Amino acid sequence: MRTEWYKNAVVYQIYPLSFCDANDDGYGDIEGIISKLDYIRDLGVTAIWFSPLYKSPDYDYGYDIADYKAIDEKFGAMEDFDRLLNECHKRDLKVIMDMALNHTSIEHPWFREAVSSPDSPYRDYYIIRKGKREGDELLPPSNWESTFTGSAWERIGDSDDFYLHLFCIEQADLNWENPKVREEVVDILNFWLKKGVDGFRFDVFNMYSKVYPIQDDDDIKPFQKGAKYYVDGPRMHEFLKEMNEKAMSHYDCYTVGESYHPSSRDAKEYIKEENRELDSIFNFDHLNSDNIGGKKFFKKKFDLKEFKRGLFDPQHDSFGEGWNTLVLENHDNQRSVSRFGISTLFHRYEAATMLATITYMGFGIPYIYMGQEIGMTNCHFHNIDEMKDPVSHMVYKLMCSYHMPKRLAFSFIRFGARDHARVPMQWDDSVNAGFNKGHEPWQCMNPNYKKINVKKDLESDKSIYRYFQKVLKIKKENDAAIYGEVKEYDKDSTRVVAYSREYEGKRLFIVGNFLNRKTLYILPRWVREGKILLDNYEDISIKEGVLDLKPYQAVIFEVNK
Ligand code: GLC
Repeated sequence: MRTEWYKNAVVYQIYPLSFCDANDDGYGDIEGIISKLDYIRDLGVTAIWFSPLYKSPDYDYGYDIADYKAIDEKFGAMEDFDRLLNECHKRDLKVIMDMALNHTSIEHPWFREAVSSPDSPYRDYYIIRKGKREGDELLPPSNWESTFTGSAWERIGDSDDFYLHLFCIEQADLNWENPKVREEVVDILNFWLKKGVDGFRFDVFNMYSKVYPIQDDDDIKPFQKGAKYYVDGPRMHEFLKEMNEKAMSHYDCYTVGESYHPSSRDAKEYIKEENRELDSIFNFDHLNSDNIGGKKFFKKKFDLKEFKRGLFDPQHDSFGEGWNTLVLENHDNQRSVSRFGISTLFHRYEAATMLATITYMGFGIPYIYMGQEIGMTNCHFHNIDEMKDPVSHMVYKLMCSYHMPKRLAFSFIRFGARDHARVPMQWDDSVNAGFNKGHEPWQCMNPNYKKINVKKDLESDKSIYRYFQKVLKIKKENDAAIYGEVKEYDKDSTRVVAYSREYEGKRLFIVGNFLNRKTLYILPRWVREGKILLDNYEDISIKEGVLDLKPYQAVIFEVNK
């Protein structure tokens, strides 16, 4: 029953709150998504990943789930979802559901029950421990920190007990040691699989298993105390195998795990085909090549060599073991054309298409984040109140609490905010960019929507969407682009990305200029006889094997032995 459809899949991610608001209440909805399915299919994608559509009080905008088997009213009803699923399938689009199972919302009935009494049978669904009394003071059970700043423990009322939350206070970590919790998880997965969904994206999955007994992290480090006790924990592989055996393995289901800095050994184990854990995981290291130590808000000069390491190391590591994914943007990251040292003022089309070419022609499944296909940019936020992401607010507050001037703190937040990706999708130049009919959207619009929108892109001679169609066609149909081994060229170059893909005598060579000025590139000899499959400029200049690359120019060559 299991096929390998995911191996040449192309996935489009929708952040439902901001995609299309058909009933004009300020929030995107299922009806809106259905109205755009042809647009998505025509791009050439084969699957859609929906960020959470479940009932949620939205402290973390859907990643705090209050009912895993209900669609949030903002988005529609379960019948609307069933119709969406059917409409996707009619267009040969697979449906991937987001599953945030490391934690639930504190408004989930399990949590409400759990905190209602120390004897509740649901108490053990969560990680609840006594605080430490030191004199008059009650300290949290350990010094672990939430990945969103502050202690990872929150006191339950005025009792001595605390619950663990590795993210927002409103996201309580589930106790995966409890077999009942794992049974519930299997039941939820089977509920959606029975409906006919085709895959899952598991949110921060490699934090499910923690090290017990809970203890202080004595390492001296500025951030993330406790991570060594909750990332890639001791029972991770066992938990994944169990989920797979009891749910996914009974269906033609694809899985992708969103991991939080996994060790390279564990990363490989998670996706090894014979292990039957996950089919793929995300790799984000290249997205940290313009920030300090993976801390999104701290900008540093873009480092192309670091970008290449982050992009290609997982491709080499996973090749022959399992499958890889290729990501440039998602709802947690800035827009790709507004970073990596790119100047979009004159070269937005070239930069967006070059990034897509050098990323998606690699080994793995391309993931496209809504709006990326028209080169949407970061938003020019004016103040912190325009931002909705709790993380932006938490980090801003923390910076201000250290007496950092507000304007400086805001400039840090504006650099790395997840909000950039969460402003409404820009469809046309009408009111609210055609996201809805005029009701104030939940998150402000990007003021540049009159210049950058789907309608305008499709009418342009330089349409990013149409270029994406071409590159995705090659990606899906060319065996070397799907199965070929990756060989990097000029790894140390700080100007270009270059690599080949080779499969059964077919070879591709991909090269992209990361500079906003011309650069010369000496083509390997074997490429010189090749034909050009795709180029993001209309002309290409090669003299005696030297390619004269224009700003952000990218070229794909094909060579048959
Ligand atoms: C993942 C999600 C992010 C969310 C976090 C907690 O990283 O992508 O949006 O805030 O998990 O669920």
